[in-house]
Amino acid sequence: MKYKDKINPDALPKHIAIIMDGNGRWAKKQGLLRVAGHQKGTKAVRDVVEGCAEIGIQQLTLYAFSTENWKRPKMEVETLMKLLVSSLRKEIKTLQDNNIRLDAIGNLQNLPASVLKELEEVMDKTSGNTRMNLTLALSYGSRDELVQAMQQIGAKIQRNEISLKDIDESVINEHLYTRKFPDVDLLIRTSGEQRISNFLLWQIAYAELYFTKILWPDYRREHLFEAIYNYQNRERRFGKTSEQLG
Ligand code: FPP
Repeated sequence: MKYKDKINPDALPKHIAIIMDGNGRWAKKQGLLRVAGHQKGTKAVRDVVEGCAEIGIQQLTLYAFSTENWKRPKMEVETLMKLLVSSLRKEIKTLQDNNIRLDAIGNLQNLPASVLKELEEVMDKTSGNTRMNLTLALSYGSRDELVQAMQQIGAKIQRNEISLKDIDESVINEHLYTRKFPDVDLLIRTSGEQRISNFLLWQIAYAELYFTKILWPDYRREHLFEAIYNYQNRERRFGKTSEQLG
C-alpha cells in the first residue's frame, strides 16, 4: 500500500517545515557543479509543494536561504538568487492552478531588488488563494527574527503601549514573522544532517523532528507522505503522560 493511502486525513500536521539540504552533495556525486544541485532542487520543491496541497496541508514553510548562506561563494549566491527569480516566474502557474498562496519570511530587504520585485509580484497575485499557504524562508535566521521581535516589543514598552508584565508567550508570538501560522507540527530535514541550523527555533518547541538521508534533489512527495505517516504514528504528549492522553 502506498504511504499516501495510509495517511489519516483527520490527523494531518497543520504546519510542515522543511530544511532542504544536500543539493551540493547531490551535484558532487554526479560530478556536477554545486549550482546544478540547486537547479535540480527546484524540481523537488515543486513536487513536494504539489504533494502537500494534494493531501490538504495548510501551511508549508521551506528554508530556501538562511542569513548564514550569504557567506557562500559569490557565484553560488548569485546563482541561487537567479534561480529564485526564474522559479517564481515559472511556478506562478503551478501556484494558481493549485490555489496556493505564496509568502515569505526573513530579512527580505537584504534580497536583491530583482528577487524582491518578483517575490512581491507573485505574493500579490496569489494573495487570494486559500487551499494552502507556502512560505519561503529567505535571508531568514531564527535568532535574527527573535532579536527583531525583542526590539519591537522594547520599543512598545518605551512608548508605554504595553507594560513589562503584559509580555507573555502570545506577545512574543505576535512579533514573529510567523505570527499568523500555527506552530510547526513536523520538521523534516533531508541529507542525513541532524541539526536545526537556526530555523524556526521558537516555533518548533513541540514539533516532531524527522531526518532522512535522501538528498533534497531526490526528495519527492512519496517520501513526504512516508514522513507524515511516521509522524502520525508517534505519540505527542506535550509534557503530559501517556495515561493522561489516553
Ligand atoms: C541546501 O543544500 C540548499 C540550499 C541552501 C538552497 C535551497 C534552494 C533550492 C532547493 C532551490 C531554490 C528554491 C526555491 C524555493 C525555488 P546545500 O547547498 O547546503 O547542500 P550540501 O549541504 O550538500 O552542500
